[in-house]
Amino acid sequence: MSALLEVRGLCYAYPGGQEALRGVSLSLTAGEHVALVGANGSGKSTLLLHLAGALAAPTGTLFLHGGAAGAERLRKAVGLIFQEPDDQLLMPQVLEDAAFGLVARGVPVAEAQARALDVLKSLGAAHLADRPPHRLSGGEKRMAALAGILVMEPEVLVLDEPTAALDPRARRRVIERLNSMKEATLLLATHDLDMALDVCTRAIILCEGRAAAEGPLPDLFRDRALLERCGLELPLRYGG
Ligand SMILES: Nc1ncnc2c1ncn2[C@@H]1O[C@H](COP(=O)(O)OP(=O)(O)O)[C@@H](O)[C@H]1O
Ligand SMILES: [Mg+2]
Repeated sequence: MSALLEVRGLCYAYPGGQEALRGVSLSLTAGEHVALVGANGSGKSTLLLHLAGALAAPTGTLFLHGGAAGAERLRKAVGLIFQEPDDQLLMPQVLEDAAFGLVARGVPVAEAQARALDVLKSLGAAHLADRPPHRLSGGEKRMAALAGILVMEPEVLVLDEPTAALDPRARRRVIERLNSMKEATLLLATHDLDMALDVCTRAIILCEGRAAAEGPLPDLFRDRALLERCGLELPLRYGG
């Protein structure tokens, strides 16, 4: 099957000179749930920012449905949940924030807010609807940011450490919500290998800006030597 989203040989250095990606290639097929795992600093967030059109990539490195895609096209097709929810939550109230993307797309405010409320409910976060985002806890902010992207129903959903700062129940809700999205194409950057096992059927391991290994789950995460070489530990369920 042809790729929905593809990266070929992507290299990127930050303006200060820090090399973050050193030739990453990967592809996602429609409907796949793929984990992008790697130690801190391996390049996960930088790669996701490129996929979502938030950093300018050289032409000819990113492809949607087989065609070269620039930042504008990527921004429309790819929904990114940022690693830091504060980068995403901009409106004075959670419901308004979660509905913002739909309103910007021309959906009437009442309808946009009703849809946003449904998504908040599905995340067990409807009680946050009237709250100002900057007064929420880290985990609550993450749920609010997640709602604002899920409601947009992007063609590809990329999530950067979505369970960081979540308590066990909220973590479980995020996992269930992602699992319920059978049709969605997901790329999940995380060092929570147990969550990756619960949500994904394939994983890509990033190591020092390169895709060091790739393969089906759970097998890939049983390879202790490989994980160790890439600065990772076995998932808890395999004794890590
Ligand atoms: N805004 C930035 N400016 C300079 N260097 C950065 C910036 N963001 C990340 N880096 C560097 O790029 C590399 C990859 O970082 P990142 O993509 O955030 O990795 P990960 O998400 O896997 O932890 C690291 O060496 C990091 O220090
Ligand atoms: Mg990161």
